[in-house]
Amino acid sequence: MSDRDLLMIPGPIELEPSVLAAMGEKQRGHLDGTFMKRFSRVLKRLRDVFHAPTGQPFVLAGSGTLAMELAAANLVQPGDAALVVNTGYFSDRMGFCLTRHGATVTHVRAAPGAAPSLDEVRKALAGGKYKVLTVTHVDTSTGVLAPVQEYAALAREAGVLSVVDGVCSVGAEALDMDGWGVDVALTGSQKALGAPPGLAVLMAGPRAMAAWKARTQPVRSLYLDFGEWLPIHEAYEAEKPSYFATPPVNLLSALDVSLGLILEEGMAARVARHVRMANAVRAAFKALGLSTLPVSEGLAAHTLSALYYPAGVDAALVKAVAAQGVTIAGGLHPELKTKYFRVGHMGAVSANDVLAVVSAVERALVASKVQVQPGVGVAAAEKALA
Ligand SMILES: Cc1ncc(COP(=O)(O)O)c(C=O)c1O
Repeated sequence: MSDRDLLMIPGPIELEPSVLAAMGEKQRGHLDGTFMKRFSRVLKRLRDVFHAPTGQPFVLAGSGTLAMELAAANLVQPGDAALVVNTGYFSDRMGFCLTRHGATVTHVRAAPGAAPSLDEVRKALAGGKYKVLTVTHVDTSTGVLAPVQEYAALAREAGVLSVVDGVCSVGAEALDMDGWGVDVALTGSQKALGAPPGLAVLMAGPRAMAAWKARTQPVRSLYLDFGEWLPIHEAYEAEKPSYFATPPVNLLSALDVSLGLILEEGMAARVARHVRMANAVRAAFKALGLSTLPVSEGLAAHTLSALYYPAGVDAALVKAVAAQGVTIAGGLHPELKTKYFRVGHMGAVSANDVLAVVSAVERALVASKVQVQPGVGVAAAEKALA
C-alpha cells in the first residue's frame, strides 16, 4: 500500500492532516495544563456531538469493544435480563458482553440485511422483565441502519434502559440522545469521530447513571468501573489534576482537534453530507448492477455500503480494487462473509473520495472480466452529487 492510496474501509478511516499532526506533537504529561484544557474541551464537545446536554461522558484508552463492555459492566449485574435487538455481528458481540457481566440475554433477531420490526421488539419487551435493551445503530457487518429513535421510545415506554452501539454511527448518522430518550450511546475514536483508533467513548444519560448508582453488587472490573472514572472525568472537565490510569494524551489531543472540526461543520450539515455521499455511492453501484445487503434503502447506513459481489466474482475483487489504489473491506457477517464487500464513506469523506472508490471498483470489475460499461458508475455518482 502506498502512502497515496485511499483508505475506504468502515474504520479506521482517512484522517484530516491537523488530526494526524496532533498525534505527532511533543509528548505532554497527563497533568500538563494544556492537556487538561484539551481533555476538558473533549468532554464538553462530546455532549454536543451526542446531543446529550445532561450526559456524563467517559473516554478511556481502548477500542469500541471496550466501550461496549463499559456499558455492560456498569449497567447489568448477575440476575438482570437484557434484550438485544440483533442486526448482525456486533449485536451478537453486545450479547457476549452482557452475558460476561452476568445478564441473562434474549435476542430479537432479523435476517441479515433487515432489522426487527417495532412490533417484534414491542412483543419481546412485553415478554420479559428487562433492565436494558441494546441496539446497534449501524451494524458494520451488514450496513444496516436501525431505527434507533423508535426502539428507544419502545424501551422508554416499557421502563427499560436503552443502550446504543454507535461505533459506526456517532458523528455521521442523526443521533439525538436527549430528544430520543437514549440512555447510553457509545463509540470508538476511529470511525465517524475522525481520530485514530484507541479511544472508547461512552455517553451515559441521567437514568443510566442512576441505574449504576442503584447497583447492589460491585462492578466486576476495576478498569471499567464508572466509580473509578467518574471523579477523574469530573476533575478533567474542571481542568483539575487527577489520576486513576494514564490517559492516552496524544490520542485525546487528536480527538479534540477532530471534534473541533466536526462542530465547526455542524452536526446537521455533517449528517447531510454523509447522506449525500452515501446516495452517490449507492447510485453508482446500482448503475453497475450491484445490489445492497440491506433489504431496503431506508435500512441502508450512510457510513458504509455493503454490496453483494456480482455473479462470477468473489473476495478477490477486494484485492483487485486495492491494486487500483483504494482499500475496501470484504464481508464480515458469518452467514454471508464470502458473498459481499464493504465500502466505508464516513468522517472526512468527500465527493473526490466517492468518485475515486467508484472508479477503482469499476476498473477492478473490468479487470475481473465482469460485463460492465466503464464509466457508468462514475457518471451515476457524479449525477447524484451534482
Ligand atoms: C458497530 C460496531 N460495534 C462495535 C465495534 C467494535 O469496535 P472495535 O473494533 O473498535 O473494538 C465495531 C467495530 O467495527 C462496530 O462496527
